[in-house]
Amino acid sequence: MNVKEFTAEAYPNLALIKYWGKKDEELHIPTKSSLSIAFRIFWTKTVLKIYPGEGKVEKIAINGIPDDLKKIQNFFDKIKKFYPEIKKYNYIIESENNFPSGAGFASSASGYAALAKALGKFLNLSEKETAIIARIGSGSATRSVPSGDIVVWKRGFNSDKELSNLEEVSKRSYGETLVQKFEGISIIATILSNKIKKISSREGMKISVSNDDGIYNAYVKTEEKDFKVLEKAILKRDLETVFDITIKSAMRLHGIILSYPNNGIPVFYLYDQSLELAEKFIELIRKEGVIGAYTFDAGPNPFFILQTKDEEIVISMLRKLNVNYYIYRL
Ligand code: DP6
Repeated sequence: MNVKEFTAEAYPNLALIKYWGKKDEELHIPTKSSLSIAFRIFWTKTVLKIYPGEGKVEKIAINGIPDDLKKIQNFFDKIKKFYPEIKKYNYIIESENNFPSGAGFASSASGYAALAKALGKFLNLSEKETAIIARIGSGSATRSVPSGDIVVWKRGFNSDKELSNLEEVSKRSYGETLVQKFEGISIIATILSNKIKKISSREGMKISVSNDDGIYNAYVKTEEKDFKVLEKAILKRDLETVFDITIKSAMRLHGIILSYPNNGIPVFYLYDQSLELAEKFIELIRKEGVIGAYTFDAGPNPFFILQTKDEEIVISMLRKLNVNYYIYRL
């Protein structure tokens, strides 16, 4: 059998302005722009094996354990429409993650980004095209494709005017490097819980968007304004503004999530301890002069973003409280 192999790796990312909601469920076109930092101590490595066939994924394994074949076949079926070449081969996907599933990072971002990069090598795609393929797997994966420290994912608007053609819109919505190197900053990822959440991000954002009564829409507008301010602040390295917006975007996300119960059942991801840690961190800002921010994804674990020189102060607070963590220095 004539088998070819393509290997790629990708890292998770942490959003400072979050992605929460889609205009298009199929192609994952976001309702709003988002911005993230790469977290490069964790990685996914993927080997894609291809041989003549009819567009079927024969096997997928993550760390040697078979994974959801149907989900990945669905992803291949979607991208076949853009790249018909895919129909001529069958596929075996072997992925390895170096981080535990409960480490606070969804493996779908680095997972789909690594797979898209391997597919990009096979199909000879540009970084932009690769980021579009990753996005179709999982929205936040598009931000794990570019090589830079800070990546933006714009919402598919052109010159502030919404494009009418879906394909055009879809092609304009992909992760792009904003800043290649953003040194002197650390991310501390804490682990309060490694339980699988009851409602996935995909489901949670669908609940927010489909129940919009005006609050979600206002959220999108405010966030879009802050996205532009944040982009400029990052380029000027105005850390105070960066950290101020980071905290606001995290808390707005959870405000929105709480605003839309699921058929009456409250949707929430934070624990009391999540908010307690956020408060403790703010105390360090006030009393010890630390410059930084906390943020949360759709889960209970706080992430701290701060100047590397202040790391020790935060670590000693976490140690005292017996909270486990990982550190990444940009
Ligand atoms: C809260 O990218 O996992 O982490 O596009 O449905 O796969 P799908 O969702 P996903 O959502 C991530 C949501 C978030 C915020 C963020 O990373 O921007």
